[in-house]
Amino acid sequence: MPTKRQVLGDFYYKEARRKGYRSRSALKLREIAVHYGLIRRGDYVADLGAAPGGWLQVERDLVGDRGLVVGIDLSFIRPLPYENVRLIRGDISDPAVLEELQKISGRQMDVVVSDLAPKFSGIHDLDHARQIELARVALTSASKILRRGGCMVIKVLMGSEFNTFLKDVERSFAHVKAFKPKASRESSSEIYLICKGFGGRLTGITHV
Ligand SMILES: C[S@@+](CC[C@H](N)C(=O)[O-])C[C@H]1O[C@@H](n2cnc3c(N)ncnc32)[C@H](O)[C@@H]1O
Repeated sequence: MPTKRQVLGDFYYKEARRKGYRSRSALKLREIAVHYGLIRRGDYVADLGAAPGGWLQVERDLVGDRGLVVGIDLSFIRPLPYENVRLIRGDISDPAVLEELQKISGRQMDVVVSDLAPKFSGIHDLDHARQIELARVALTSASKILRRGGCMVIKVLMGSEFNTFLKDVERSFAHVKAFKPKASRESSSEIYLICKGFGGRLTGITHV
């Protein structure tokens, strides 16, 4: 007899396949975007850690023809069949990558999302520390490319460094909420920080 968790996991997997999404994770962003009205028609969206491209599909649906979506990842992303979905292969901590994004967009972004994730070791404390490190890189990157008043979504894993990171985020955004999408496995310690009203600059970041 499968457990409730297994049944739900299977449901979201099938649902993502039925909708033609490249990742199960796409359902998480859709849930976040619907719940918080984060991405609108015509928005410019930067997607950090975008492979294989499930979130890119959701973002393109939401911004429509007039917006722009730029996906960045270390890994190759199979192109999407839209002119306004652009891809950059590279490390988000490399300044040349952000310069390329700025050349493509020609202006600050309305929304920056980060589903960045390290290669997991299975050791929770280590994975948590690496995830927070990537989340800090995402926050620093957003401070360079996000417009004043813009929104951000950041994936984190809960753990000992969470509260310190949360305080850093709260210093830079007017409203910050932690959200666990239904499509996220119950067993996973991942949550998403939903950040609105960027103050225009990073106001202090704690290095641990
Ligand atoms: C969970 S996956 C993203 C899934 C994606 N949101 C989707 O729906 O298809 C996390 C991604 O972060 C990428 N990543 C990790 N560190 C990175 C870095 N420093 N620069 C760019 N991408 C990175 C990984 O290569 C991986 O593809």
